[in-house]
Amino acid sequence: MTSADQAVDPTAHDSGNKATDKFKANRVSSDTSKERANAIYTDLLAAIAQVAHKHEVTYDEYNVLKQWMIDVGEYGEWPLWLDVFVEHEIEEVNYNRHDYTGTKGSIEGPYYVTNSPKLPWNGEMPMREQDKKCTPLYFEGQVTDLEGNGLGGAEIELWHADEEGYYSQFAPGIPEWNLRGTIVTDEEGRYKIKTIQPAPYQIPHDGPTGWFIESYGGHPWRPAHLHLRVSHPGHRTITTQLYFDGGDYVDNDVATATKPELILHPTTGDDGNHVNYPFVLDKED
Ligand code: DHB
Ligand code: FE
Repeated sequence: MTSADQAVDPTAHDSGNKATDKFKANRVSSDTSKERANAIYTDLLAAIAQVAHKHEVTYDEYNVLKQWMIDVGEYGEWPLWLDVFVEHEIEEVNYNRHDYTGTKGSIEGPYYVTNSPKLPWNGEMPMREQDKKCTPLYFEGQVTDLEGNGLGGAEIELWHADEEGYYSQFAPGIPEWNLRGTIVTDEEGRYKIKTIQPAPYQIPHDGPTGWFIESYGGHPWRPAHLHLRVSHPGHRTITTQLYFDGGDYVDNDVATATKPELILHPTTGDDGNHVNYPFVLDKED
């Protein structure tokens, strides 16, 4: 990494293309039957027809949509746009299909990376000197099953943005694993980690996702959040996010991904903010 890299401001084009490359690295598939595909596409086209008729969409508007979709692809922004505007519906539908009673999930977003470094118990997230100037966040709790038994050896993958709202591996000039790590619970299922208080986050808005938001007078902000993936053999892996009580945009998240159960209530000490959050894992189906 050169100092020139560090001077470069991340752009939607840059983080979009990185998110697209990461997504493409895993070729996805689904065992959807022809009958089901037919039912889904029929309803999707009917929904589009309904909007076209209801709003008497003009040819200019149709062509702007076509141009915009081409731009989203060229900027690599489909993972960003879809995860902000669609993923929360898919997450909700799939949660509701089961009788889960454990910790609620939320969207994964475009910036999850597997195999983050394992951190020692009561350790610290990888961070730079500039991150250390932020308010420390001491994050601890217990992972249990539905009966309250502690789940030793559970893995908590944690990733979040820095104080400027940038994620390592998706913005230039940030060390590879900055603010990413995997915490393993002790025999009683307890975890403890030091990180920094994240700030509200603006989704990249200097490209087609930003033009889209501007065109209808919206805003590109998400509330400050921690991303988590909690797993233990025999239990349902939860992908979720945690937010901060009273924080900006908690009630007005561009990605519609907050839930009341996912809001942290930190206490403030001389050494920083402290928070305790229990994760409850459902049994695997
Ligand atoms: C996006 C970014 C996030 O950090 C997130 O949590 C959800 C969506 C995005 O830019 O699409
Ligand atoms: Fe995020």
